[in-house]
Amino acid sequence: MPQAPQKQQTMTDQTATTPATKDMKEIVALCKRRGFVFPASDIYGGLNGFWDFGPLGVELKNNLRDLWWKAMVTTPPLGPDGAPVEIVGVDSAIIQNPKAWVASGHVGGFSDPMVDDRETKLRYRADHLNYFFLRPLDGGIIKINGKPAKALAFVEGTSNQDIEKRLKKLGINLKFLSQDGKLPDLMFSSAEDIPLSEIVGPDASEPGTLTEPKQFNLMFHTFVGATAGDDNKAYLRPETAQGIFLNFKNVVDSSRVRVPFGIAQIGKAFRNEVTPRNFIFRSREFEQMEMEWFCHPNEAKMWRDFWFAERVKFWKAIGLSDDSLQLRDHDRDELSHYAKEGYGTADIEYKFPFTAPGFGELEGIAHRCDFDLKQHQEHSGTKLEYMDPVTNERFIPHVIEPAAGLTRGVLALLCEAYTPDAARPSGVYLNFHPSVAPKKAAILPLTAKDQHPVIATKLYMELREQYNVDLDIKQNIGKRYARQDEIGTPFCFTIDDQTSADQTLTVRHRNTMKQDRIGLDHVADYMRKNMLLATGRA
Ligand code: GAP
Repeated sequence: MPQAPQKQQTMTDQTATTPATKDMKEIVALCKRRGFVFPASDIYGGLNGFWDFGPLGVELKNNLRDLWWKAMVTTPPLGPDGAPVEIVGVDSAIIQNPKAWVASGHVGGFSDPMVDDRETKLRYRADHLNYFFLRPLDGGIIKINGKPAKALAFVEGTSNQDIEKRLKKLGINLKFLSQDGKLPDLMFSSAEDIPLSEIVGPDASEPGTLTEPKQFNLMFHTFVGATAGDDNKAYLRPETAQGIFLNFKNVVDSSRVRVPFGIAQIGKAFRNEVTPRNFIFRSREFEQMEMEWFCHPNEAKMWRDFWFAERVKFWKAIGLSDDSLQLRDHDRDELSHYAKEGYGTADIEYKFPFTAPGFGELEGIAHRCDFDLKQHQEHSGTKLEYMDPVTNERFIPHVIEPAAGLTRGVLALLCEAYTPDAARPSGVYLNFHPSVAPKKAAILPLTAKDQHPVIATKLYMELREQYNVDLDIKQNIGKRYARQDEIGTPFCFTIDDQTSADQTLTVRHRNTMKQDRIGLDHVADYMRKNMLLATGRA
């Protein structure tokens, strides 16, 4: 079994949750009910690890994508010299020459250790299993189906209640294990030297059904052309980064960029994850937003610190709270093959409801050294050196890589925004930062008769040129407010009888539900001011 250094965690650390405010099941249900995210192939029962974005989900995702592109490519941050840094974009093919994935190390090494359960046919990531040791107080040995059982394996994050339920199902009475009849307070990330034959798998009914861990390559493959054989086997990219390295020379030769500069790309990536889980957190098809920053090796540390700070700023500016974000340096044994010789990798982590009070990775910022360009130079035979036009120095640039998940970013925004509120009819609202909200405003005629819809439609036609706004005419106004709360629309403009009389309407604020009356001809200005205020550009 996994021989990783033994780590002890207290049960309470693992399973305690923040006050029951954000429940993942409820977030997933809202996403489906309101059209953010659906299981892929829903009518066929779905497909594990694949998700579709609905009408509002795609708007939310596009907003995050566009904000990232703006922050990186269109209006990149100011560098240490006070001038904007230089970043250009690419959009490379998902399928590349398979030799590229040999060079990048993905064919040989992009794998996770997995264990199978022969009884249940279920598969687990070996490094996601924890162990609960069965140590009877009287020093005896527990037997299940006549076989000695010394440890219970379970998937990281399993709650105390679920462990208790499993013990009960396996016929193990807690009082044999603890003085006070409560679950003993320790669990382990490694089963040390307990033989597999004495470990009960997470869903098994007896010990000895788990296999030894096997490395499992995460790349999906396909065949290019009419015949399916090893000669035309190709891979779906498992990261967008390599498409950038493959174009390094093309970009340098065809544009005016000079080191230090960055190349950015947003797009799909595919990984045949052993255990896709936690909604869209770990899926098999997802999107990444990656930027490779090419710099002189002597400046790598300075740029790494620069991008750490910039990337945290980005997530905060679009609404993730200080409390929910943390920067965590990778331990030495976590470092990827390309980061080993460098200044290390740090993750920006978010406190997702299913990791709370712990954190889960949202973005990794790695110093990839010159690993990728060197590998591609060696495998392709094409020189990938850069010559500094001022000093004539030739070198292979080092790379700092902020690599964020677009799909995972959407999940963080949804989790952050989800706000239960018993005081309103919907019972919940999405407190999106206005810059990411799928709909910036809703225009609601109080009734579907008289002048209300006419005025509303005119206002809608005006505002939609600049903002993604909703014109919602049907249903009673309470239900329409509830819907807008649930989809996170910051402002609702309501047209009523008074509007025809004095050319004013009400504006209702999502978070406070407070209503003000403003002039009809001030709405555009009001939106402009409030959107600028929200994005800190007023
Ligand atoms: N080029 C480096 C790279 O791909 P990574 O940490 O494997 O690094 C970067 O991926 C980001 O992509 C992660 O921080 C995460 O947000 C996202 N990501 C990775 N695997 C994912 C998956 N299976 N499902 C959803 N997002 C994923």
